[in-house]
Amino acid sequence: MSESTVPQTLDIVRYPDPVLRRSAVPVTVLDDEIRQMAEAMVRTMHESRGLGLSANQVGWLKRVVVVSETGAPEDTRVAVNPVVLSEEGAIALEEGCLSFPGLYGLITRPERIRVRYQNLSGETVEEAAEGMLARCFLHEIDHLDGVLFITKMTPADRMRVKRFLRELEEEYAGPRPVRP
Ligand code: NI
Repeated sequence: MSESTVPQTLDIVRYPDPVLRRSAVPVTVLDDEIRQMAEAMVRTMHESRGLGLSANQVGWLKRVVVVSETGAPEDTRVAVNPVVLSEEGAIALEEGCLSFPGLYGLITRPERIRVRYQNLSGETVEEAAEGMLARCFLHEIDHLDGVLFITKMTPADRMRVKRFLRELEEEYAGPRPVRP
């Protein structure tokens, strides 16, 4: 058996790294590398006390997200190739993002959704999600399309966070290698 090249935890890419603006590609074969990377994403999310993490955020351009609407390990879902099937209602909730540490804002998104994805066993899962779970899925699936939550803030909030974003831009050390 060959040794894994996937570390236990992964570095989280911060704004304004260009990988955050790129679209991730579908997973065609759910192999060991995909499983190991997804499991490393789960560990990274919990270690960072996040409620969700997308592959783009660890510099990997595959359609994989992990979510835990409570932050508890038992509520963790790994979603491969997630798709939003339907959306209903609208609600404003406060959101943050591990690629924007310390930044929060009210974002309006659908209140209830249906999602379909594959789990790590390769089974297709279809489920209804509302509240924080729906929110986590929507935020993370946006990441897979290169869409960041700051683009969905109200104009007033975008003004408010301008200086914060400029600070992240000044701290930014340049892009790291992207894992295909
Ligand atoms: Ni995020």
